[in-house]
Amino acid sequence: MALTERIKGIFKKSRNQNKWPGLIEAYRPWLPVSAKTPVISLQEGATPLIPVDSISKRIQKGVRVYVKYDGLNPTGSFKDRGMTMAISKAKEAGCEAIICASTGNTSASAAAYAKRGGMRAFVLIPDGYVAQGKLAQALVYGAEVLAIKGNFDIALKIVQDISKKYPITLVNSVNPYRLQGQKTAAFEIIENLGTAPDWLCIPMGNAGNISAYWMGFKEYFQAKKSNKLPRMMGFQAKGSAPLVFDKTIETPETIATAIRIGNPVNKEKAKKAKKESQGEFNYVTDSEIIEAYKILGQEEGIFCEPASAASIAGLLKIKDKIPENSQIVCVLTGNGLKDPECAIKNNDSIFHQNLNPNIDSIAKTMGF
Ligand code: F0G
Repeated sequence: MALTERIKGIFKKSRNQNKWPGLIEAYRPWLPVSAKTPVISLQEGATPLIPVDSISKRIQKGVRVYVKYDGLNPTGSFKDRGMTMAISKAKEAGCEAIICASTGNTSASAAAYAKRGGMRAFVLIPDGYVAQGKLAQALVYGAEVLAIKGNFDIALKIVQDISKKYPITLVNSVNPYRLQGQKTAAFEIIENLGTAPDWLCIPMGNAGNISAYWMGFKEYFQAKKSNKLPRMMGFQAKGSAPLVFDKTIETPETIATAIRIGNPVNKEKAKKAKKESQGEFNYVTDSEIIEAYKILGQEEGIFCEPASAASIAGLLKIKDKIPENSQIVCVLTGNGLKDPECAIKNNDSIFHQNLNPNIDSIAKTMGF
């Protein structure tokens, strides 16, 4: 069924005729929910797949590149896809509190959905390494924020142990419902393109999202909704690239704090996705990430966070390997507004300050 027809059908079914109902309602048959599951949703999903000609032009060979702009989800990242599922299932199980470790986006999303579901939200974050926008969100949503003197990997170990010992549900991507929700992004891409892309380029941190996408692509392929499977191309920042170097990184570093992770909990799943899809893992440097971040902003009007730009940076880095006429989707996992400090520090704009407030002075500064 064509995308428009299907979405019209979904709109009709939804109580509000003009509203996308959120991904649990849209993909109910594909998700482990029942009539008893209380659906906690902020109408996440249905994010745009946008052609990015400035990137296609840099590659040539008839290649068409799109971005899946998942930074347009309700809390500004792809995490909402997983969180609507994880929190709805936690609610169904009668849970009253949730916990997660996070480099920022998971904490924002977990807090929003938990609060909407009437639960307490505890979030452990690496002190000083969470972008301002993400921290602001967790605080405004009313999370109980626990900043530790340690990195994400240490925080994750703690929340895993706590959730085993105390009555609290873990909503990191070890929670299987997270990946179930996140796989719907692959469904949407197939519906948009009419088939799967040839390559899917995606940043990797804890490596849940690449695993979720692969699950989604396989499910739609098996259901004959796509006639092919993509190669899964995963990218990490050079200073935080445990999957590329195939070893734990004790002190991961990168400007892309979202993916500052040295021991990804989903590494086996991600390696399987790579193997089954004949994919590749590569690293990109922080300066390559910033270069891609600026191209998207300046030439496409798309503002993503640095971790997301790793997918574009990676694609450009391995552009010689791209077969002619390929269709490629790069996943933009988070919104640029999440990390205003990075934006202010890394741009090529002309920013005149302290101007006298009169026409002559402004016109002169403008070059008239
Ligand atoms: N991009 C962004 C913007 C992220 O926030 C993350 C992960 C990733 C990519 C990587 O996804 O972990 O599934 O491989 N952020 C997590 C967090 C770790 O706590 O918000 P992944």
